[in-house]
Amino acid sequence: MSSNEAISVLRSAGEARAWRATLPADAPVAFIPTMGFLHDGHLSLMAEGRRRVGPKGQVITSIFVNPTQFGPNEDFDRYPRDEAGDLAKAAAAGVDLAFCPSAPSELFPAHSRTWIEVEGLGDALCGRSRPGHFRGVCTVVAKLWGLLRPSIGLFGEKDYQQLAILRRMHADLNLCGEIIGMPIVREPDGLAMSSRNSNLDPSSREAARAIPRFLAEVRARYAAGERAAAGLLADAPARLAPGRIDYVSLVDAADLRPIDVIERPALCALAVYFGGVRLIDNALL
Ligand code: PAJ
Repeated sequence: MSSNEAISVLRSAGEARAWRATLPADAPVAFIPTMGFLHDGHLSLMAEGRRRVGPKGQVITSIFVNPTQFGPNEDFDRYPRDEAGDLAKAAAAGVDLAFCPSAPSELFPAHSRTWIEVEGLGDALCGRSRPGHFRGVCTVVAKLWGLLRPSIGLFGEKDYQQLAILRRMHADLNLCGEIIGMPIVREPDGLAMSSRNSNLDPSSREAARAIPRFLAEVRARYAAGERAAAGLLADAPARLAPGRIDYVSLVDAADLRPIDVIERPALCALAVYFGGVRLIDNALL
């Protein structure tokens, strides 16, 4: 274990396992997995983790840009990184220690052969345009969970599909502890916070305000009584211009299947490119 001024850092799977072994099995441990470049969305999960485990509990975050959840033509190389800044922010948010694997082989050694796939929930939305993405997410979260054996793991509703899939995995594999979902934290103009926002040039950043505007309008149409996907999402390309739409969908909030008319809790979810940066957001209806 090495010690930055503010926070202890674990660099290997062995160190992570050894740290956990120093604590009782039922110790209150809050775990917040991230890919770093921390913003207030991540920090809200950390602060809630601290609140839930109390001053004597442990709050641990992982900072790992997981190569297995990026497709070959995606932004793995462009994904922003700032470990020193992240460690300072995490410490200020009440985190005790960070697991920052020194290399991907700490979690995916060459002899590794096991992948976790949750059937069904990954077919629509991000799963359709990012084949293999959720397999990479599930596998890394399961590996981290096994090393750290948290009493709670905190995840954001910004990645709603990810949260739904991880909840399924957690239940299906009888993993320890509990998964907690947390609300989306937004910039003052409504754009959902995301590490990828830092890759937006100023004009794309300005244009991306179309996303929260679009979702606010969907909510307003819903409040006015509209229940049909066709009505709620009408003219999406124009309303989201100049963004290039990956998907804009209305799905059942529980099973994520596309729906035409809302009869149960539903999710309006979207992924739109602005200036080459893929942004996701959603609204529960
Ligand atoms: P990352 O995108 O870094 O997000 C880490 C956690 O922060 C996720 O649970 C995500 O939903 C949450 N989060 C991100 N932006 C948020 C916002 N604006 N408001 C609230 N929560 C937000 O998601 C991942 O990393 C990875 O897939 C990971 C789970 C770490 C596996 O590699």
